[in-house]
Amino acid sequence: MSFSEILNCPLCASPLEREGKSLVCNGGAKRHTYDVAKEGYVNLLPPGKGKNAHTGDDAAMVRARIEFLSTGAYEKLSDEVARLIHGCVPFGDVTVIDSGCGEGYHTCRFTSALSGFGRRVRTAAFDASKHAAAAGAKRAVREALAAREGVGAPFDGDAQAAFMAGNIFSLPVADSCADAVVSMFAPIAWDENRRVLKDGGILVVAASGEDHLLEMRQFIYDEVIKKAPEVVPADGFEEVCRSSVRYTHSLASSAEIMNLFGMTPFCYKTPREAVERLSALEKLTVTVHTDYFVFRCKK
Ligand SMILES: C[S@@+](CC[C@H](N)C(=O)[O-])C[C@H]1O[C@@H](n2cnc3c(N)ncnc32)[C@H](O)[C@@H]1O
Repeated sequence: MSFSEILNCPLCASPLEREGKSLVCNGGAKRHTYDVAKEGYVNLLPPGKGKNAHTGDDAAMVRARIEFLSTGAYEKLSDEVARLIHGCVPFGDVTVIDSGCGEGYHTCRFTSALSGFGRRVRTAAFDASKHAAAAGAKRAVREALAAREGVGAPFDGDAQAAFMAGNIFSLPVADSCADAVVSMFAPIAWDENRRVLKDGGILVVAASGEDHLLEMRQFIYDEVIKKAPEVVPADGFEEVCRSSVRYTHSLASSAEIMNLFGMTPFCYKTPREAVERLSALEKLTVTVHTDYFVFRCKK
């Protein structure tokens, strides 16, 4: 299950092959080359379009997410993704695309869990943020989901998770190659997901539930509107099932509180006065609430 079987050149859509420290396409006269960065990811954001493309989360947000997720507070969220994929994809090898993977915490956890269920698994993870893809690639090596030795080795045949900078609305992967696409708290690229999924493949969407971080929202905003996520499937998808994960989690330090705050969209839109009040807290118990939607792709 090598990654070169599924990765395509973002410029000419020809298959990419590993050649030493690079992935190279065989697109006729002009061969396009993508070097594996020292962290182990490949930048497959098309050059030229890069300037205007969404550049993803910045380094500060990625750092906040790495710090917070390392506490284990969100483990159950990726466990549920693994459970849903295992339950909805017939037993056997499984190719997963993580669409908007962030820094790869959930990617690595659900990939390991699927492997623990006895599956041969290959997860291709994409994020517009190079910081996120780099962090994900390093995590995959740390967690033995990709080879440790040699630049380029993360794309070797035995690797279970590979990280790419890429645009999820124009994925550099082959048509109908994936058994599952995962979209955790990221934009949903319906048309592109339909293109890359096999007939009968599934899209797993995780979205913040109406009570997610309610206590933090109540602390920083005068008025909190509770709204359950609605995910309406596009043509070619039908809902298979939904589930929820819900529990309370105690944040035990100001650093934990601010790291969690720093990885949410609230950090962009909260008045300075409320941020200062929040940063003075030493503990806060929050509700973690995620809703999951599973859609099957019909071609
Ligand atoms: C809220 S984060 C979630 C990350 C990860 N799935 C998680 O749950 O930890 C959303 C991610 O989507 C990425 N993203 C947004 N638009 C994108 C696009 N067009 N192409 C690729 N990634 C995108 C962002 O860079 C960010 O890392």
